[in-house]
Amino acid sequence: LPRRWQSSLPQLDHVDRSDEESGGGEIDWDSLGFGLTPTDYMYVMRCSPEDGGGFPRGELRRYGNIELSPSSGVLNYAQGLFEGMKAYRRPEQAGGYSLFRPEENARRMQHGADRMCMPAPSVEQFVDAVKQTVLANRRWVPPQGKGALYLRPLLMGSGPILGLAPAPEYTFLIYAAPVGNYFKEGLAPINLVVDDEFHRAMPGGTGGVKTIANYAPVLRAQMDAKSKGFTDVLYLDSVHKRYLEEVSSCNVFVVKGGVVATPATRGTILPGITRKSVVELAMDRGYKVEERLVSIDDLIDADEVFCTGTAVVVAPVSTVTYRGKRHEFRTGPDTLAQELYTTLTSIQMGLAEDTKGWTV
Ligand code: COI
Repeated sequence: LPRRWQSSLPQLDHVDRSDEESGGGEIDWDSLGFGLTPTDYMYVMRCSPEDGGGFPRGELRRYGNIELSPSSGVLNYAQGLFEGMKAYRRPEQAGGYSLFRPEENARRMQHGADRMCMPAPSVEQFVDAVKQTVLANRRWVPPQGKGALYLRPLLMGSGPILGLAPAPEYTFLIYAAPVGNYFKEGLAPINLVVDDEFHRAMPGGTGGVKTIANYAPVLRAQMDAKSKGFTDVLYLDSVHKRYLEEVSSCNVFVVKGGVVATPATRGTILPGITRKSVVELAMDRGYKVEERLVSIDDLIDADEVFCTGTAVVVAPVSTVTYRGKRHEFRTGPDTLAQELYTTLTSIQMGLAEDTKGWTV
């Protein structure tokens, strides 16, 4: 371990290292989906009123249920945020594990915490906590090429509150689970349906931050879509019902000729870290990238459509159904989506040189 990490070792003393490189033992790495496999440890850090708005030192604990007041801010008023990150096992000759732009997640949580009136861990605390969680659960990091250890940082108003106000106490927690592909299609192209009845976000709302409250409201539309055989839902803006917003759990891109367009992040769109990275990678390849209003007509006219997110990585879209009509798009080996997927995952897994300095 690097020297600055050795100070963390006392906290890892109680970690069971007996099976540390065995890869979880009981897991079939070839059939990992995006289900929850509980791992060994979680990281917990609390901020109480006497902490003056900062988080003192946290600790690793056995993964398990947490005690929460029935009147906690998160249970009553959804005062909560989450993040999604992945740790990859690096190639054997390089050794170790790699995280992708973890400071970006830390900063996004800070931004969201400000919107939700919560204190947030510093960038350094956040990244240190993520590293500790990965190391404590390292036997659950899938072998190269089989998936990643998904990390779920949470920040919640855990203190009791009855009148509508910020909670008096906050909990920052990170748990981990080994995951494979997000969609049941695996790496195969997905089929979306546009929903113009339900909306994911509205101007002035919280669509641009990763609050837990953005996600349960899409379940109705998502369940209806799945029952009709679609993979997921593409949402339109709530004002004009004409511009693309997001898919339930990821950002969306359309490609036409040498131009790549994605909805601009003006408060209703989550500023995805994969989104931001893909914008840069597409520009490096000579594409013109436009962050702007992208209409449903732009999508219908596109050559290619794809989604990006930590969980989904880069997912090609083969069809989008809008008002009962199915529109088809290019997928396969010669697409930009495929090229971006390969480039991005090679950097994330340590298979390609990280000229951007994105991995930790
Ligand atoms: C992620 O991509 O990591 C997310 O946070 C989306 C989640 C709904 C799986």
